[in-house]
Amino acid sequence: MKILVTGSSGTIGTRLCEKLMAAGHEVFGADWKPNKWSVEVASRTVQVDLRDARATLDRLPRGMDLVIHLAANARVYDLVVNPAEAFDNMATVFNALEYARQTGVKKFMFASSREVYGNIEGLKHAEDEARIDECESPYAASKIAGEALCKSYDRCYGVRSVVFRFSNVYGMYDDSNRFVPIIIRQARANGPITLYDQDKTLDFTYIDDCVAGIMLAAEKFDACAGETINLAYGQGATLRQVCDEILRLTGSKSELSLQPTRKGEVRTYVADLTKAERLLGYRPQVDIKEGVRRSVEWYGAR
Ligand SMILES: NC(=O)c1ccc[n+]([C@@H]2O[C@H](COP(=O)([O-])OP(=O)(O)OC[C@H]3O[C@@H](n4cnc5c(N)ncnc54)[C@H](O)[C@@H]3O)[C@@H](O)[C@H]2O)c1
Repeated sequence: MKILVTGSSGTIGTRLCEKLMAAGHEVFGADWKPNKWSVEVASRTVQVDLRDARATLDRLPRGMDLVIHLAANARVYDLVVNPAEAFDNMATVFNALEYARQTGVKKFMFASSREVYGNIEGLKHAEDEARIDECESPYAASKIAGEALCKSYDRCYGVRSVVFRFSNVYGMYDDSNRFVPIIIRQARANGPITLYDQDKTLDFTYIDDCVAGIMLAAEKFDACAGETINLAYGQGATLRQVCDEILRLTGSKSELSLQPTRKGEVRTYVADLTKAERLLGYRPQVDIKEGVRRSVEWYGAR
């Protein structure tokens, strides 16, 4: 297939492009930043600001079979500080869908987030439990808007879509302040570590499981078109557990500073993966212990 991946210089985009190319697909990337992780993905990437509707239409290659829209301002707390970034997310998904509609792409995938569930009661959440009333942050609002736009383009214009809800994807290609990479960096430097809400229980997803789920959906598109699907590991781990495992593996002497939760954050989430398994045969392979081990090894080699 000819596949356009937006956000191809990011964490999931880089890994997804690598795996799609290895599987024999013709892959094109779009991102406003150059790819710093992979020469091969960089060479397939058009540098473009997807907030710009004209540039998105004019500069991106035509004739795609599938668009996988990952591009976003993806750090939840950054968007609490600067909500204009949430508006930008809505513009990029709108422009990506318009690109699909106007160039005749019939298959579209959108990277949404477990943030759309907010802080609803209970730990494990199936897809139909998301409620707009629970929207916790501008980031979550931008994902809810993106999901709704996808559904509307599916119904009005025949751009068939699959919405994924990811959760705490980790493992490689991330030098941001996300939880796993930042704790590994600080632990290796024996520097102070700040844990906001150490009991927060989240569903950490090793990157290759997430990418495998997207690829299954690309293969079985007709079976999952129009659906919203959780892609995660399906078990919870507390921030403290993940941090302690990283400290153990790195032999770190870092001191912990424990702080309360921050505004806009979801405190507990574990994905119900029944639908992903039923529609895609999705079965994640890498538990948190093994995933953290691989991550410490990957970042340690850099
Ligand atoms: N990683 C996670 O844990 C996680 C969890 C839930 C949802 N998601 C979603 O999955 C997607 C991919 O996540 P990621 O971890 O790879 O994020 P990332 O930040 O590593 O990658 C996002 C990419 O989008 C690009 N981008 C942002 N705005 C752009 C614009 N206007 N024009 C062109 N490029 C732009 C960035 O440069 C970046 O390379 C995002 O939509 C994110 O919100 C990720």
